[in-house]
Amino acid sequence: MNLVNFIDSAIKLIQRGVVDRKSFFRHPVLASTDEQNIFQRIVVMREFDFEKKSIVIFTDSKSQKVGQILNHPECSLLFWDPRKKLQISVQSKSHIEIDSSHYWSKINDRQQKDYTVNPPPKSEIKAHDDYEFSDQNRFTVINLTFKSMDVLQLSDQGHIRATHDFENNSQSWVSP
Ligand SMILES: Cc1cc2nc3c(=O)[nH]c(=O)nc-3n(C[C@H](O)[C@H](O)[C@H](O)COP(=O)(O)O)c2cc1C
Repeated sequence: MNLVNFIDSAIKLIQRGVVDRKSFFRHPVLASTDEQNIFQRIVVMREFDFEKKSIVIFTDSKSQKVGQILNHPECSLLFWDPRKKLQISVQSKSHIEIDSSHYWSKINDRQQKDYTVNPPPKSEIKAHDDYEFSDQNRFTVINLTFKSMDVLQLSDQGHIRATHDFENNSQSWVSP
């Protein structure tokens, strides 16, 4: 097993998650913190920049994650493919894109409505359907740049694990 190939194929599988709707890597778990607690949620990976090793996700500016990221840009992404028995854990640094217009034009009307819910996400409401779509657009784009990655391949022949540091461009096998 070649270390460079092992890491490269993990990155390519993440990249494929953007275009392949059936890929389990399309829906990573994003973890962020408010300093006291850690919060996790599933997101859709919308774009992957192979050169920069960064991904893009869409969200609502009033969602909890946006406030958390503004105060604490360090985030973690967790990918798991049960068919391939492959886990990839990524440490990343995030920022909110200033100009989201390029992405806004790419999503359809139904998706655009998701970012106009009134009252905003996690507001207490009286009934499950006590919300509406408004003309308030809170569409927000988050960019997450990979700092390091931990790849774990489960196998009956012996588990395989490696790490890659994108900042130093160094990689290593590690014990599983
Ligand atoms: C399959 C799936 C995909 C989701 N994709 C997104 C997404 O791309 N962006 C997003 O903000 N929330 C997405 N959500 C909802 C989030 O998991 C979460 O409930 C919401 O963003 C509020 O999170 P927060 O309050 O921690 O910020 C998705 C949920 C599921 C189940």
